[in-house]
Amino acid sequence: MLLVGGGGREDAICRALTRSGSEVFSVSKNQNPSIMRLSKEHVTSEETDYEKILKFAVERHLDLAIIGPDPVLNTPLADRLWQSGIPVASPSLSAARIETSKEYMRNLLQRHSIRGNLFNRTFTNMEELEKFISSYSEPFVVKPIGLTGGKGVRVMGDHFSTPAEGLRYAADVLRNDGRVLIEEKIRGEEFSLQAFTDGDHVAPMPLAQDYKRAYDGDIGPNTGGMGSITDSDHSLPFIRSPTLETARSIVSDVVRSMKSEGNLFRGIMYAQFMQTSTGPRIIEINARFADPEGINVLTTLNDNFTEILFRITDGTLPQFVDFRDVATTLKYIVPVGYGSKPEPEKLTIEEIRDPRVRIYYASVSGTMDSVMMSSSRALAVIAESDTISHASELVEQNLSHIRGRYYVRHDIGSEEMIRKKIMGAP
Ligand code: AMP
Ligand code: GLY
Repeated sequence: MLLVGGGGREDAICRALTRSGSEVFSVSKNQNPSIMRLSKEHVTSEETDYEKILKFAVERHLDLAIIGPDPVLNTPLADRLWQSGIPVASPSLSAARIETSKEYMRNLLQRHSIRGNLFNRTFTNMEELEKFISSYSEPFVVKPIGLTGGKGVRVMGDHFSTPAEGLRYAADVLRNDGRVLIEEKIRGEEFSLQAFTDGDHVAPMPLAQDYKRAYDGDIGPNTGGMGSITDSDHSLPFIRSPTLETARSIVSDVVRSMKSEGNLFRGIMYAQFMQTSTGPRIIEINARFADPEGINVLTTLNDNFTEILFRITDGTLPQFVDFRDVATTLKYIVPVGYGSKPEPEKLTIEEIRDPRVRIYYASVSGTMDSVMMSSSRALAVIAESDTISHASELVEQNLSHIRGRYYVRHDIGSEEMIRKKIMGAP
């Protein structure tokens, strides 16, 4: 099995692969000690150097590949692997556009009248952009069309306050990229729905919620994600009927509409929704496991992961994949200043003996008991229990096993936070 990527998500993928009988050949830019320990062979390389990765996979006669990070999905690696006879449980360059082009995503939803779309317009012309913003009276969101590592989106009321400020940012994006997307701003509780698909059949995973803001209380800059939760019933405490069913059918509709246009999506689809008073609405669709939410679901996956990936590539995915009925809470250990001015330092890690608690290694290099952080997320501590809040407490109790100067959000999964979200849900 070829695994590309070296973050916390890829550590979780790597563990699920080895647990289910795969021999892993991994490629990543960092020297992730957990992935390296489990890999039969590891190559340290730029992850977007697809020629090099292709050569490695072909020379080792690998049977299957999975790609973790979005920037790699934006290269021809998946297509070239297929052409070389190696199936890939991640989408082609063209199918990955569901994530790599927000314009493609919004237009696909529109062409097929799929529920949950937002009012949106893409601009390629400064005058039209200015004219539109001066006449649009609702709060709006400015988005670059392509990948920005979760940091390019600006929301009125959060990141800017007046239309003029929003226009300034939109104009910058337009000048740099040649295009910019303006969307209506919606309000509600966000949730993530990941699903396996072979392009035809869709098997949903438990719902998850990701905490993108850097600081406790959901304030501060947006990050790649500071932590995440899943619940024992595979929904979330603040999700009201029929949000879950509608969200699942929207993802199936997206998969079906791509197939009908000859742009088969094989791999993991990860849709970000907002639960609103008019049902779930789509914030974004991604072409891979979420990080961190992918770690929550891979930790509780009951079925054989290797077999699921083979079935994704040969079109025989079952409609149901089994996950254990437990709640999980995950908190990311990050450098102090993460999200603005990170100060990476060394961490020492003592083994955790409680089987309900696990540490996944993310953007670090080093050994299992001592790592150097990068400017990004370092270690994911995840616990499972009957409830999200007890899992959160278990994480807190075990943070003392990690020593060094770091930052972590303590509020994720706490009873108070969950209660507030239930009260606030539309
Ligand atoms: P994204 O990078 O698209 O996931 O956006 C980052 C964050 O911006 C999301 O998690 C939302 O909290 C927020 N956001 C994105 N689009 C919208 C929208 N149309 N309305 C309100 N908030 C949004
Ligand atoms: N959870 C955020 C992301 O994976 O994009």
